[in-house]
Amino acid sequence: MKIIKTSNYEKMSRAAANIIAAQVIMKPNCVLGLATGSTPIGTYEHLVRSYQAGDLDFSNVTSINLDEYKGLSGDNDQSYRYFMNEHLFRHVNIRPECTYVPDGLEPDSAKACDDYNRIIAQSGGIDLQLLGLGHNGHIGFNEPADSFEKDTHCVDLTQSTIDANARFFASMDEVPKQAYTMGIRNIMQAKKILIVVNGKGKAEIVKKAFFGPVTPQVPASILQLHNDVILVGDDDALSLIP
Ligand code: GLP
Repeated sequence: MKIIKTSNYEKMSRAAANIIAAQVIMKPNCVLGLATGSTPIGTYEHLVRSYQAGDLDFSNVTSINLDEYKGLSGDNDQSYRYFMNEHLFRHVNIRPECTYVPDGLEPDSAKACDDYNRIIAQSGGIDLQLLGLGHNGHIGFNEPADSFEKDTHCVDLTQSTIDANARFFASMDEVPKQAYTMGIRNIMQAKKILIVVNGKGKAEIVKKAFFGPVTPQVPASILQLHNDVILVGDDDALSLIP
């Protein structure tokens, strides 16, 4: 694993965006695996700026997002489809029909997951997968569990994740309790993985995930077994690593 340590969130975001930009420049028809959460927002801002400066062209890029809440439509401002439109897609020239997010409105979980696995397979594979890191070590919505789930699946979100998301919803009843997420195999099959982490609140889990035992209780720990991982973090998030 390669670690890039930066002094603040802004520099972390720039470093991560540069890695994604390099991927798009080297392979204009690449498949980007994308992530939501607060951490990558600055990364997307930098990518948008590079696009606006004429340095990037997304017209042949395909994007495949990690996850989506079950039950939310793309118009709901808390859905991940909405997040991606707001933070990246509508600001760049990526073709909307080449942007994939699991279908939160598909009530049949088996169908939603099969469809998404097919989309990933038909894309030819993810060239670069961007990831954030949950406080409990989740990646996408692969929550701590007794075993690693391989493919896209429907998850019951853990109470800590539901609580962490509650701030975005008017009431606890509206907070989604389930989500569709790529599985660990989908993520591990990406050719390259880029993880972004910032803030003191992530320091403990960064240490556990990347320097502790590989265990499904800390889903991100599996990334230790991938041969092309770049961890980009600020000083705070990386403060506890050996
Ligand atoms: C959510 C997303 C993850 C994300 C995580 C961390 O649960 N499903 O993909 O990595 O939150 O979010 P943040 O970056 O806001 O800490």
